[in-house]
Amino acid sequence: MRALVVVESVWGNTEALARAIVAGLGAGATLTTADAAPDSLPADLDLLVVGGPTHAFGMSRPETRASAREQGATLVPERGIREFIAGLGTPPRGMRVATFDTRTVSPRLPGSAAKKALKRLVGLGFEPLAKPVSFGVHGYTGPLAEGEVARAEAWGKEFAAALVGG
Ligand SMILES: Cc1cc2nc3c(=O)[nH]c(=O)nc-3n(C[C@H](O)[C@H](O)[C@H](O)COP(=O)(O)O)c2cc1C
Repeated sequence: MRALVVVESVWGNTEALARAIVAGLGAGATLTTADAAPDSLPADLDLLVVGGPTHAFGMSRPETRASAREQGATLVPERGIREFIAGLGTPPRGMRVATFDTRTVSPRLPGSAAKKALKRLVGLGFEPLAKPVSFGVHGYTGPLAEGEVARAEAWGKEFAAALVGG
């Protein structure tokens, strides 16, 4: 089973979840940032997982990342998952995909980067393996809500089992 997890993260919360998902997926899973991810995916990839923070009710944009920088973030990526997805072509037939995001737990706002990302990826021809999932973050900078890292690892484990099972 070969899986690639592509993550965007400003304050590190989404990245911590991505690491847990990779651990859950097990051997054969690799992690890369949206900044560094390749535009053409390996043909033998079984699963692409894409995760990023929810900014302004959806995937981040250059303007929302600039706003994060104004709010004190120092490790703001040049390229987010929106740009990564925009650079992808039609995937090989049957390539599976799953998406996740982080969102503030309070106040709970509408909108999800994971939902928007999945819609685009399915539009390109990927087959969804699961519904988009949101993980909670306290405030804008974190920390993650209690139990989220364990939930992310379990999510990865479920995928590994689903893929091995067919
Ligand atoms: C410009 C900006 C807009 C945001 N908009 C939303 C939003 O619409 N809904 C939400 O739940 N969180 C919003 N957030 C909070 C982010 O989701 C939060 O910073 C992120 O989940 C933290 O993950 P990271 O540490 O991986 O960057 C916003 C944050 C920024 C910087």
